[in-house]
Amino acid sequence: MKTVSYEGMLFDEYISAQEIAQLVQNVAQQIARDYAGKQPVLVCVLHGAMFFLTDLMRALPIECSVTTVRLQSYEGTNSTGRVIESVPLQADIRDKDVIVVEDIVDSGITMHYFKQNLRERQPRSLKVASLLSKPSELQFEDAKPDYVGWEIPKKFVIGYGFDINEFARNLPSIYALREG
Ligand code: IMP
Ligand code: MG
Repeated sequence: MKTVSYEGMLFDEYISAQEIAQLVQNVAQQIARDYAGKQPVLVCVLHGAMFFLTDLMRALPIECSVTTVRLQSYEGTNSTGRVIESVPLQADIRDKDVIVVEDIVDSGITMHYFKQNLRERQPRSLKVASLLSKPSELQFEDAKPDYVGWEIPKKFVIGYGFDINEFARNLPSIYALREG
């Protein structure tokens, strides 16, 4: 088994790069079907979703554009319960078909807050695509992603965009914190 160490903690390989590629293809196929003939704007939630965004976008056979926002809620391996829009969304999304591209929906506080914020800008439609989700941790029903690559149990993961204090994003696979 592949294992990496960050900040004195051990993480075991959990989803291989090959498996991630398949999850991304599945999400892309669903979006391509639902948005045929449309030109959605993908809102990439930085920095976690940047890897998912670029792979997803290349897998989409439809016309689409991209814009970014930076939202932060985590410190180390824990959610702070607050969401900071540290780099605000600049693009005009009025009357656009918006797909928020997120790395993971955990408690849902980030998506709950951000969707409210986006609705005020009056998009034509608003959906969320998340590579992973932790359904057991969801506290906000409206934050449930419309497209999900894979549902995972309560685990802290790193790699493929997921960070621990900004490191480990560049690992090609996803690794999960070893418990105990
Ligand atoms: P939520 O607001 O509780 O749903 O958490 C969502 C945000 O927390 C995500 O956008 C991630 O950036 C971060 N996050 C949640 N779980 C993990 C994890 O297991 N590893 C790394 N980041 C995570
Ligand atoms: Mg995030």
